[in-house]
Amino acid sequence: MLYRSLGSSSLQLSVLSFGSWITFGTRLDQRGANECLACAYDHGINFFDSAEVYLGGQAERMLGEGIRTLGWPRDGYCISSKVLFGTGDNHDVRSPARPTQQGLSRKHITEACHQSLRRFGVEYLDFFLCHRPEPGMSIAEIAWTMNTLIQQGKVLYWGTSEWPVADVLALIAFCKHHHLIPPQLEQPQYNLFHRQRVEDEYQPLVQEHGFGLTTWSPLASGILAGRYDVGTAPGSRLTTEGFAWLEAFIFENKREARIAAARQLKDIADELGATRAQLALAWALQNRSVTSVLIGASSLKQLQENLGALDVMPHLDSSLRSKIEQVMESSSPIMR
Ligand SMILES: NC(=O)c1ccc[n+]([C@@H]2O[C@H](COP(=O)([O-])OP(=O)(O)OC[C@H]3O[C@@H](n4cnc5c(N)ncnc54)[C@H](OP(=O)(O)O)[C@@H]3O)[C@@H](O)[C@H]2O)c1
Repeated sequence: MLYRSLGSSSLQLSVLSFGSWITFGTRLDQRGANECLACAYDHGINFFDSAEVYLGGQAERMLGEGIRTLGWPRDGYCISSKVLFGTGDNHDVRSPARPTQQGLSRKHITEACHQSLRRFGVEYLDFFLCHRPEPGMSIAEIAWTMNTLIQQGKVLYWGTSEWPVADVLALIAFCKHHHLIPPQLEQPQYNLFHRQRVEDEYQPLVQEHGFGLTTWSPLASGILAGRYDVGTAPGSRLTTEGFAWLEAFIFENKREARIAAARQLKDIADELGATRAQLALAWALQNRSVTSVLIGASSLKQLQENLGALDVMPHLDSSLRSKIEQVMESSSPIMR
């Protein structure tokens, strides 16, 4: 495993990290999740990502249960949670969430932190992120609340996910003015279809404000691994109950073009003796602005394959990189 500093912090995170979105509690039961967690940890992964909204809090419970079963020492790993959407219900799966059970108010941020701590069964979160910006949110309320949670020892580092850079800069300026602990990380999508935020928009955060980036969906939910080459296979992510909206989200009305691009990556991967998943992960890993590439896997086999990206990364030279980027540009306009 390789490790990188979280921006200007001296915290060392593994360059590959493991997330629990969609897979935990659907394709992975507790036993399957534990196998993946054990494999990830044994390969040096030290950062595990979740959020209050992932399967209504169940993903956090499963991650906590896995950590306890595997007996990891608390100082040997980092975990994150994200706040905004609530658990989607009023804690009983039958009635909808009430207005105070979501959002970025002091009340919900504080409650969400306490609830995540209970679900994980830990005393503090390493990372606590505002999952998205919220219309009408108060920068002051968010910054003071996060600072308080840090002072109380319940959170170590805080940040945002997919916030417009102007809002993050406003947070940083507010914290500086009031001598509060500023946000330290952003969690954006980064893959061969989505490059703009990481490569352009967030560069001031990385270069001037010492932010770390922990990036998500490196395989564009599996498209880049060839998962949708021949239609939507039974058992693939797009067939998960409750995720019908994901099809439009990942293909953005460019299904054919995106699949064509993913297919063309196969020749380049073959040249390296790698799989397409490993190629796409190696490409993301090479970006030094990225602290850690969050991977997802719906089986131990996928996870083991994806860990192989670390061996592929050193062999991905500039000529292969430009070949990959040309394939993507010619088959599907890239968002950058
Ligand atoms: N901050 C945010 O808003 C945000 C948003 C999304 C994700 N995240 C975090 O980032 C993590 C990773 O994101 P992601 O799960 O979307 O990552 P991803 O790598 O883009 O997608 C993972 C999915 O791709 C398929 N896959 C993975 N490895 C494969 C392989 N070797 N061969 C074939 N298919 C493969 C699997 O889908 P199948 O189930 O079809 O096999 C797997 O569930 C999440 O778990 C979550 O923690 C954060």
